[in-house]
Amino acid sequence: MTLRLHLSVNGSAHDLEVPASRRLIDLLRYDLGLTGTKEGCGIGVCGACTVLLGGRMISSCLALAAFADGAEVTTVEGLANDARLHPVQQAFIDYGGFQCGICTPGQLVAAKALLDEIPNPTEDEIQEWMLGNLCRCTGYYKIVESIQRVGGPDMAPHTPPRSERPGGPGAFLDSPPGA
Ligand code: FES
Ligand code: FES
Repeated sequence: MTLRLHLSVNGSAHDLEVPASRRLIDLLRYDLGLTGTKEGCGIGVCGACTVLLGGRMISSCLALAAFADGAEVTTVEGLANDARLHPVQQAFIDYGGFQCGICTPGQLVAAKALLDEIPNPTEDEIQEWMLGNLCRCTGYYKIVESIQRVGGPDMAPHTPPRSERPGGPGAFLDSPPGA
C-alpha cells in the first residue's frame, strides 16, 4: 500500500508517493536526499534524528512519514537562511558546541526549538530541554555554553558559562572568542 503525501520541507513543497510504512527519517534522507538528519538509535532515545514538525520537536525515526502530510518539516539543512548560518549554528562553531556529525544535527535542531520557545534560557532550562539529545563520547558543557552564547559576545548569557567560573568544569578549555 502506498500513500500520496503533500508536505513542505525547509520551505519547499513536495508531492511524494511512498509506502504507507515509510518513516519520516527515511523520507527525508532517501526520498529527498536530506542526509543531515541522522539515525543513531532508531528507537527514539538519542535525539540524533530530531526535526521540527509544525515547529515542534519530534524523533523522525519514530514518526511515520504520513504524519507529515500537509505539514511543514524543518531539518538541520533548513536552519541556515540565504547562505547565512542560523545564530545557533554560528554559536556552536564559535564556542565549541560542534561535535560529531551524528549528534550535532539533532543538537542544533533541538537548540533552535528551545530558543524559539525560550529566547534567553537559563542553564537549567537548557540542560532540561537538551536531555533528549545524547552524546556517547564527548560532553555537554560546550553545547550548553554555545546555546547560552547565541547572539554573540555582546549578548550576555543568563548565567556565566562553566568555563568562566573559577575552577568550574571546563575551565581548562580555551576561552571563547571575544570573551
Ligand atoms: Fe531517532 Fe535516536 S535515531 S531518537
Ligand atoms: Fe556526537 Fe558524541 S555522539 S560527539
